[in-house]
Amino acid sequence: TAYSLAAIVAGYLLGSLSFAVIISRLMGLHDPRTYGSGNPGATNVLRSGNKAAAILTLAFDALKGYVPVVLILLFGEPYGLGAGTAALVGVAAFVGHLWPVFFKFEGGKGVATAAGVLLGINPWLGLATLLTWVIIAVFFRYSSLASITAAVFAPFYQLLIWGAGPVAGAVLLMSLLLIWRHSANIRKLVAGTESRIGQKAAPGA
Ligand code: G3P
Repeated sequence: TAYSLAAIVAGYLLGSLSFAVIISRLMGLHDPRTYGSGNPGATNVLRSGNKAAAILTLAFDALKGYVPVVLILLFGEPYGLGAGTAALVGVAAFVGHLWPVFFKFEGGKGVATAAGVLLGINPWLGLATLLTWVIIAVFFRYSSLASITAAVFAPFYQLLIWGAGPVAGAVLLMSLLLIWRHSANIRKLVAGTESRIGQKAAPGA
């Protein structure tokens, strides 16, 4: 319908707000695309040494996935918008983060945004996935490894506990894109050169 199309476009535009870049700019920090992994995401902003900027990036990148999904679930019904559309709008926000229209289509890896989308679609699915991330992050101290592992598990949680359907399709699609966006991280993990959480970017690197 026209309503679902409008919601999907709005989700994409919201997702296109690359908060790593926006918040760094507002706080007078270097552009995260110029240091560390070069990724506009909370993990890389943390490499600047500014924890507040990293936390704000994480929060806003997650909210841009969470808010549109929850708005559809709360207010979509009179317009014929249900859980399926909510999942699609979440995917649209995620896609916006990966290929932002406002930033030459050069975006991030989608971890925080996917987490927000999952929490919005199904808080238990979101929490189980977040817990997976935290366990791997605590044991191995690699943000990327935690993200990849969580992305592998999320579709299984969804399928095994809640079954197949549009939500499972959305979760699977986000997981595949997210893992693919971590190709460089996977190479670094294998080579043993991936940076650990809290490790700052070498100046100028
Ligand atoms: O936030 C994405 C994370 O999983 C990896 O980020 O900067 O280490 O490539 P980064």
